[in-house]
Amino acid sequence: MAVSGKKVCFITGGSGRLGKEIAVSLAQNGFTLFFTYNRSPEKAEEILDTVRPFAPGSKIARCDVSSVADIEAAFKTFTEHFTRLDLLIPSASNFFSTALPDVTEHEWQSLVDTNLKGTFFTMQAGARIMKSQPFVSRIITMTDISANLVWKNFAPYTASKTAIQHLTKVFAKVFAPQILVNSIAPGTVTINPEWNDKPFDELVQNIPLERIGAPADIMEAILFLAKSSYVTGQVINVDGGRLLN
Ligand SMILES: NC(=O)c1ccc[n+]([C@@H]2O[C@H](COP(=O)([O-])OP(=O)(O)OC[C@H]3O[C@@H](n4cnc5c(N)ncnc54)[C@H](OP(=O)(O)O)[C@@H]3O)[C@@H](O)[C@H]2O)c1
Repeated sequence: MAVSGKKVCFITGGSGRLGKEIAVSLAQNGFTLFFTYNRSPEKAEEILDTVRPFAPGSKIARCDVSSVADIEAAFKTFTEHFTRLDLLIPSASNFFSTALPDVTEHEWQSLVDTNLKGTFFTMQAGARIMKSQPFVSRIITMTDISANLVWKNFAPYTASKTAIQHLTKVFAKVFAPQILVNSIAPGTVTINPEWNDKPFDELVQNIPLERIGAPADIMEAILFLAKSSYVTGQVINVDGGRLLN
């Protein structure tokens, strides 16, 4: 068993566009990583190679977070390799547009099972380990400022992110004082023309700080929450002021 005295972070979706930046930055900030992928093993291997110089004991595992059996198997693998869990970031997520009148059961399941059910059961499994540790640990959920907006074409996605913000508060209350549970709600950080139906200029016009977010902006908030000892049950919107409009 590779027991490490260093802090350990378990992150799902660690090979996502933002997820990988979070993983690499946490490794650079002293965490050993256990991170999961689903359909992108090559990306996960690449990120593992990147973090090895800073976080040599890091591991990866495949896990479809829409399956509770997969989540349990991933945590079993985790406990075979690590004896502590300091930080859990359920970041795995699906995001695609769904015009409201035509949402299919398959699309609903793909979005809600990955985002909401996956986050819930990952938090539940993580909290089982964390609650019995003799030190304070932390969970940071990844939501979205769209939880506070009304997007016509993303209802299952935004409903799942809104529900995760609620779960964040419930977990914070249930597991205090051993586990601090907070959420980061990014504004737009990465752009995919297929998903963003507005032109770039229009998108930026609605952001008082006049630019989309950078992964470093999200990391500032994550590193703050990863250290803070008197913040729990909060959602931090990292959005350049977008919600002011
Ligand atoms: N990027 C942004 O601008 C932005 C804005 C607001 C909120 N967020 C939130 O920030 C978090 C990170 O975003 P991101 O940019 O890294 O997302 P992303 O690029 O879309 O990546 C999604 C990640 O989730 C994983 N995933 C998808 N379905 C899965 C499943 N069923 N089981 C397990 N893993 C699954 C993917 O793994 P595989 O590729 O291995 O399948 C991938 O690593 C997400 O929660 C997202 O909603 C991001």
